[in-house]
Amino acid sequence: MSRSILLTGASGYLGGTFLEFLKDAGLPAHKIYAVVRSDKQAEAVKQYNASPMSLDLSDTDAVSAAIIDNNISIVYHLHNPLDMSTPAWIKALATVKQQTGQHVHFLFTTGAKLFSSHAGAPTEPFSDTDPSLLSIQQSQPSKAPIDAMGLGARCNNLVVETAKAHGVRSYIFAPCIVYGRGLGFGNKISIQTVAVVKAAVATRRVYKVDDGYPTWPVCHVEDNSTLYVEILRSILGGEDVGEGESGYFLASPGSVAWDEIYAAMGKALKKRGVVDDETVVKADRAALESMGEGIDCPADFVPMQLGGLCTWVPEHGKKIGWKPKYAAEHILEAADAEVELILEHMGNARSYAIPKGTPLKQ
Ligand SMILES: NC(=O)c1ccc[n+]([C@@H]2O[C@H](COP(=O)([O-])OP(=O)(O)OC[C@H]3O[C@@H](n4cnc5c(N)ncnc54)[C@H](OP(=O)(O)O)[C@@H]3O)[C@@H](O)[C@H]2O)c1
Repeated sequence: MSRSILLTGASGYLGGTFLEFLKDAGLPAHKIYAVVRSDKQAEAVKQYNASPMSLDLSDTDAVSAAIIDNNISIVYHLHNPLDMSTPAWIKALATVKQQTGQHVHFLFTTGAKLFSSHAGAPTEPFSDTDPSLLSIQQSQPSKAPIDAMGLGARCNNLVVETAKAHGVRSYIFAPCIVYGRGLGFGNKISIQTVAVVKAAVATRRVYKVDDGYPTWPVCHVEDNSTLYVEILRSILGGEDVGEGESGYFLASPGSVAWDEIYAAMGKALKKRGVVDDETVVKADRAALESMGEGIDCPADFVPMQLGGLCTWVPEHGKKIGWKPKYAAEHILEAADAEVELILEHMGNARSYAIPKGTPLKQ
C-alpha cells in the first residue's frame, strides 16, 4: 500500500538535499507532502514530485488535522530540535494507525549538540546503539551546563516517551557538523561551519574556544541525506531498523578535532584575505565578545556554536546498510571549498537564534 509522508524543512539545507536524493532513490511508491511557507516554496517542491502543504506548524490543531485528513503514516520532522509540540503530531499519527491498521513513524531531527558536553552527555565514547540512551538523555537536563541544551534533550525524550505510549515508531536523527554544498532549492550552507567563518570575519582571526583537543562528529550533507533515505527505504520496506529507545541515529562517518577544522578553515580564510593571521589561538573574553557579535549570540554561548566535546559514536546507520561516501577527514580536504561556498552565500546564512541577554542557566 502506498504511504503518505509529511516532510518539514524542505527549503532548508538538510531537507532540500534530502528531497533531491529522494528523487532518484528508487523507493517503493509513496506520496510526499512538503510543508511550505510561501508560494515560491510551493512551486519549488513540485520539481521533486512533492505536494506543497501550507501549514502553520505552531498550530497543533492544524498539524493534527493535516496528518489525520491526509492519512499521513510517516513524518520527517526537520525544522526545530527544540519543538515541544511533538506529542500532538505523534497522537495524530496514532489516530492514523487506528484508522488504517498501518504502522506509523515519527522521525525527529535533533542535533549532535544534544549528545555533547554542552548538554550534559557522557564525555567518554558511547554508541548511538547504546540501549541506555533514553535514560542517559533523561539524566541530562539537570546536568546540562546550558539550559537550552537541557531543553533539547527533553524534546528528544518527549518524542521517545510519547511515541512509546501511543504505539508510534520513533527515530531520533542527529546531524552533526554537516558540510558541503546543499543541493536543495533553498539554503545551500550549513548552520555549523558558517559560525566559524562568521566569527572569523568579525575578529579577523580564527580562535579556538576550548582547552585540550576536543573532537566532534562530522558528515557531508550528501551522506546525511542518504541516511535519511535509507531509514525511509527500510520503513517503506516494512523492516524494523530499531525504533523508540533503540531508534537513535548519529548521521556521521566519524569525528575530527575542532583544532583541525579551525586550522584548515583558517588557512582558506587567510588565502582570501578574511583573516590577518592563519594561526589559531585560544579566545580570551574580548575575542569571545567579538565572535558573539559576529554570530549574533552572547559571548557565553560562543563555545556552544563552534566548539565542545561530542564523544558519541555512530554505529546504527552502518548496521542498516548506510554507506557514507566521505570519510570524516574529508571535511579538512574540503575546507577550502567550504569557505568559498560560505563566503558566497553568507548574506543568507542562518544560525541558532539565541537572543542577547539569555543566561546559560536560569
Ligand atoms: N545543518 C547542520 O549542520 C545541522 C546540524 C545539527 C542539527 N541540525 C538541525 O537540523 C534541522 C534542519 O537543519 P538545516 O541545516 O536544514 O536548517 P535550515 O537550512 O535553517 O532550514 C530550516 C528549515 O526549517 C524550516 N522552518 C523553520 N522554522 C519553521 C516553522 N516555524 N514553520 C515551518 N518551517 C520552518 C525553514 O523554512 P523557511 O525556509 O521557510 O525558513 C527551513 O525549511 C534544524 O532543526 C537544525 O537545527 C542541523
